[in-house]
Formats: sequence, structure tokens, C-alpha cells
Amino acid sequence: MLSNKYIKKFNEDGFLHLKNFFSEKFILEIRKYILDKYIDGTKEYYVSNSDLLSDQYLKKIILNDNLIELFKNILGENIVYFGESCWTCSHGKTNPMAYHTDNSDRDNFGKDWEVENYPIVRFAFYLQDHSRQGGGPLIGLKSHKNYIKNLYLRVLFRETLGPIMGRYKYIPYKIGDLLIWNLRTTHAGDGLKFKFSNFPISKRLNKYIPDFLISRCKEERFLINGNFASESFYLDKYINYLKTRTYQVSRWNNMTLDEDTINELAKKNVKYKDVSKNIKQDIIEKKIDFNDLHLNHKDYK
Ligand SMILES: [Fe+2]
Repeated sequence: MLSNKYIKKFNEDGFLHLKNFFSEKFILEIRKYILDKYIDGTKEYYVSNSDLLSDQYLKKIILNDNLIELFKNILGENIVYFGESCWTCSHGKTNPMAYHTDNSDRDNFGKDWEVENYPIVRFAFYLQDHSRQGGGPLIGLKSHKNYIKNLYLRVLFRETLGPIMGRYKYIPYKIGDLLIWNLRTTHAGDGLKFKFSNFPISKRLNKYIPDFLISRCKEERFLINGNFASESFYLDKYINYLKTRTYQVSRWNNMTLDEDTINELAKKNVKYKDVSKNIKQDIIEKKIDFNDLHLNHKDYK
């Protein structure tokens, strides 16, 4: 049970770093499973082609009672799972991603920014330590309530003022920790930090810092993430946005849920929104053309 203090903190900061949420054993077993089943060493980057619930072993993440309870504490009793989750594995020299938000209105001050508590929340955890090496996330605290309309000022705040004021941080993630953030919260994956401090090094800053000062991830880097939401105009809008993205349409098209799994979700009072079924039908009826979808984010209105 997440105390009111933490729920308040999440709503204020747009982010929570929950230490020792999972056991180390749980995390290392997942790491071994993905390594053995999917990683053949031929590529620098791997990503699951379907959601976690479609894998008979990895579905235990989405069905984890503590995770479900956490989301109910944050979002209220009526939570929805709509088939957006995945694992990724990368190795070799990683570079940080650019700062961004995950909601549909990323680069425009659209309707997503009107609501007090945006009702879609992401969880993420890594399958290795990022407190002694880079590769963890960079997060902007309170950024979910602070959309800076001017692009120049937004970049300036994310890159320089935010870190100096302690509002933009590198998160020193340890095995077993769990991160959750509001989809409006600014963050960057594959973050870097200085070797002797946790000061964040962003994609832009990275170009000006000598490599010997930068701490990177030195091993295969596994990340698991997914979303829960509450039914709302904002969820429908977000799903409509995801229908413009190549990776997510493909993932919905590849989903294979059996009756038992859907029943398990129902038993735990998690509503399953079957977007996958509609997508598959639309593909059969040629209402969706993969050539019209976007690999990268484009504002959706
Ligand atoms: Fe993101």
C-alpha cells in the first residue's frame, strides 16, 4: 500500500523512485529468461515484438499484485491495461536519448496539458545496476506541470537551468527498484552521468564533455516498461495517437492473449481494453497501411 505521502509526492513531482520494490531474485530470473530466449548476440539492439502479457513467462510482470496495487493507489480502483508494454536490450556504446515526454501532446500545448493529474502512468525497471554505471534515466521533477511553450526556453531549462537547480536528475537505479512517471513528465532514456557524481549528462551536453569523464553502461542493458491508465478522454486520445506509431501498431498486431490471461486480469480487477483486436481487424480490412505510420513522434491532433 502506497501511503498518501507518496501519492501526493507522485502527483507533485510526476515521478517516483521506489527502492527495493521487487526482489533481486525476481529481476535476475527475468534477465536470464530474456537472455536465454531472445538474445542471440547478432544485434546491438533487441526489442520485444509483442507486449509482455503475450509471453507466458513475462506476463507475471503485468499480473504482479504489488504493481497492480501500486497503480490502483495512484490512479484509483478502476485501472486499465491496453497492451502497451515491452522489454528492450542494447549493448555496445550507448548514447542518451533526447529529452521528451511520452504523452501525445509532446511538442504542443494541447489538451493533454489541461488536466490536473494526467491519467496515464508508466512503470519502468532495469535488469542491472545503474547506480555505479551510467545508463539509467534522466528525469525532470515537476516537469509534468510545467510546459514551457517557447522551444528555446524549454531546451535551456532542460539542459542547463534544470540540472543546476537540481530539478533535472540522473536516477541512480539499483536492481529491484521501480520507477513510475506520469506520461507528461520530461525524461531521457539511456542517460549518462559524470564518473564521480550523479550530475546528468544529456544528449546535447554529451557532445561537450570529454569521454573519460562520462560514466556509461558497460554491460548488456535491459529495460522493461509498460503503462496503466484510467478510462478517460485522455486515454482514448493517447490510444488514437499510438495508432499512428509503427512500433505500437505492430506490437498490438502481434499480441496473443489466451482466455486464462484475460480472466486473470479480470480477477485482479484490471480492465483489459482490447485495442489489439480492433487493430488486427483494421489490418485485415486494409484500414491501416503501415506505410502511413510514423517511426518517430509526430504531433497528433
Ligand atoms: Fe520515453
